[in-house]
This record gives sequence, C-alpha cells and structure tokens, in this order.
Amino acid sequence: MTEKSHQYTRAKAIVQQIEQLAAITEQSGCVTRRYGSPAFVEGAHLVAQWMQEAGLQTRIDAIGNVRGRLVSLNPHAKTLVMASHIDTVVNAGKYDGPLGLLMGIDVAKQIGQSTILLPFHIEIIAFADEEGVRFHTTFLGSQVVTGAFNPQLLAKQDADGITLQQAMSVFGGTAADLPNEAIPANDWLGYFEMHIEQGPVLDNRNLPVAWVSDIAGQKRILVHLTGFAGHAGTVPMSMRQDALCAAAEMVVAIEKFALQQPNLVATVGTLQIPQSASNVIPGNVHFSIDLRSNEPDLLANAYQQLQQLCTHIAQSRNIACNWQLVQHTAPVAAHAPFTQLLQQAIAQAGFPDVSLVSGAGHDAVPVSQVAPIAMLFIRCYKGISHHPAESCNENDIAAALQVADNFLHLLIQQHT
Ligand code: GLV
Ligand code: MN
Ligand code: MN
Repeated sequence: MTEKSHQYTRAKAIVQQIEQLAAITEQSGCVTRRYGSPAFVEGAHLVAQWMQEAGLQTRIDAIGNVRGRLVSLNPHAKTLVMASHIDTVVNAGKYDGPLGLLMGIDVAKQIGQSTILLPFHIEIIAFADEEGVRFHTTFLGSQVVTGAFNPQLLAKQDADGITLQQAMSVFGGTAADLPNEAIPANDWLGYFEMHIEQGPVLDNRNLPVAWVSDIAGQKRILVHLTGFAGHAGTVPMSMRQDALCAAAEMVVAIEKFALQQPNLVATVGTLQIPQSASNVIPGNVHFSIDLRSNEPDLLANAYQQLQQLCTHIAQSRNIACNWQLVQHTAPVAAHAPFTQLLQQAIAQAGFPDVSLVSGAGHDAVPVSQVAPIAMLFIRCYKGISHHPAESCNENDIAAALQVADNFLHLLIQQHT
C-alpha cells in the first residue's frame, strides 16, 4: 500500500468512528452531547474503548476527560498532549471536536505500532467540556488538566438546578480528586490540536489544511433590560417603556458597530422576553453578547464602546440596563518555534504555507498558559459549523494525517 492510500484508509476509518459517535446523542435525529449527560458518558466510554484498542493506557478522569497514554521509556520524558473535545452544542455537527481527537488517537496508534523509541510520552485527551453549553463556562476539562480549575465553578447550576459537583459524580471521582488530575507545569512538552476550520477560508482557497497563528479572545456579556410592562391597547406609543424595543435598537446598533471594525465580531445569540404575551408591552428582556477579536486593545475598546452605546440607548428610552460580564478569555498566539515545526510538516506534505486566525475558542487557549501550543485547521464543507450540515472530506482528513505524522516525526527527531 502506498503512503497516500494508507492515509486514505485511516481517514475512512476515522469517518466511520465519527458516525458511530454522532449516533450517541441526547435526542434522536440530531447530535447533542452536553457535558455529563447519559449520551456524553456513553460516548466517553466508546472513546475509552477506541483508545484501548489503539494500545493506549486509558482512563476517565474525575471531571470526565478520557485520557490515553503512550509511555516513553526515557526516565526524563515530558508529555506531548494531543487533544480535542467530545461535548457538543445543541443540534451540533459531527466533526467539531471528535475529528481532531480521533485523528490524534490514530496518529498515536501508528507510532505505538512502529519500532520508534519515543523520547517523550504522548497523552491523547478527549476533553469533557469545551462548548460550555450546560454550565455556561467553557474549557472545564482542559482547566483541570492544566491545574487552573477554579473550585468555585463546582457550585454552578445547570437549567435543572444540578450543580457541576453533582454532574461530575457520574465519572466516579470527587472534587478533591481534581487537583491530582493536572499534568504538572514542568511535565508538558507541548500541546497539539487538530480541528475543522469552522469557517470558509480554506474552502474558498481550495486548500486542505492551514496552521493557526492566533486564537481570538472573547467576552460574553448578559444584558438585562427593565422597562415597564403595560397594556398593549391602552398605553400610547409615546408613553411606553418597552424593553424589547430598546433591545431591538441595541441588537442592530451592535451589528452596525461590529460591521465598522475590520477585526471584530459581535453576536447576540440569545434573547428572552420573560412572561411575554401578545397583548402586553414587554417590561423585561435579557440578551447575550458574544464579542471576539484577536487584538486585545480592539476587544477592550469595543467592549467599553458597546457598553456606552447600550447605556445611551437605554437612557434615551427610560429603561434600566444591567450589564454583566460573564466570561473573558484573552486572545492567544500560537507558540512560534513549536508552530514552525508544524509549518515544516505542512511543507513536507506539499501544501502551501497558509495561516489562519481562529475565531472559535479551543482548549488550546487555557493550555497556552502552561505549554507551547500548535493547531492545525482542516477544511470543512463550505465552512459550515455548529450546524448539522458540518462535514469534512476524507481526502482532506488523509492530507491532515500526513501533516500530523510529519509533525510528530519532526518532534521525535528534535528530542532524540
Ligand atoms: C466554541 O465552539 C466557541 O468558539 O464558542
Ligand atoms: Mn470545537
Ligand atoms: Mn464548537
């Protein structure tokens, strides 16, 4: 078998696994696997079985990360982590997370079956919660592995009032076990994550892969507007304090603002009108803002300007505006020397040297605090993601496997 057809066979097997994992879902007819749900636990056990079959020493840790190790005989060995996540958004695609994880397992399996003497350990991790859908906090699994987990998060409740501490008990561990799950800062060799691009650039440029230069920072904000509810038939238009009209003006102003900034995106993704009725003037409205940029100053200035904009709109309509920052993640740059090795691996595979900024968040963000990070993006169909139509072509997966094999061999050479 030629090297190319070997990679294509591996890519086909990975797509079969992706289909198997996607069939494990909270709701039939769509892919939803939120952290700690029965579907998540079943999916985690299937991934653990695949890791074992690939020859990795496998376990599920206290927060629910699935972890498989290929152990080096070198007594001074550090650990290279290759990882991605297996939780999903609601009505998700099949590839966001699982593709990078399953490719990592496959790449480690090839090394394990070869005669290569590993100078470092390889740990493959299926992170438990990257999307942050259930508890509105992202990166729970990777924060545990880096040792940055804040125990105050354990009291967070999901929509049914179940705390994170209760939810994590399905994995058999306790909160006291969490600090022991961290890889000590001195033991990290580096972190490599493969992921679908989730945007249209590679598709437009007809390229299978690119390396990631930066990951955008993000702020999540909750805005609570309080006006005055009233009778839809009797209160004259000029005498209303309609919280929804204020929200509508803010939503459009936020879009207009972001359209004028070349390197910023802003999204109002949720909006609720509690106790709404068609004949009641909305007195209360809540909405979320997701604000992202890879430029820290731009992100900070945009945050302030949007807060002023919303405050001004609220004042002009006699509406109270409560503005609450619920998450801040700073922009992160990939580690230059580590990423240069990835660029070399891409060149060896015969692909052009193209970099992308990731607008999506990744577990590489918290890991960048303790280890050099590198990320490889793989083209996805029309750039569609967080959508059931998310898809990835087997030839592109095969191309990415070639790059990942090259990267690992270069890293092994460097440390041998
Ligand atoms: C996760 O996919 C995010 O970027 O919000
Ligand atoms: Mn993802
Ligand atoms: Mn995602």
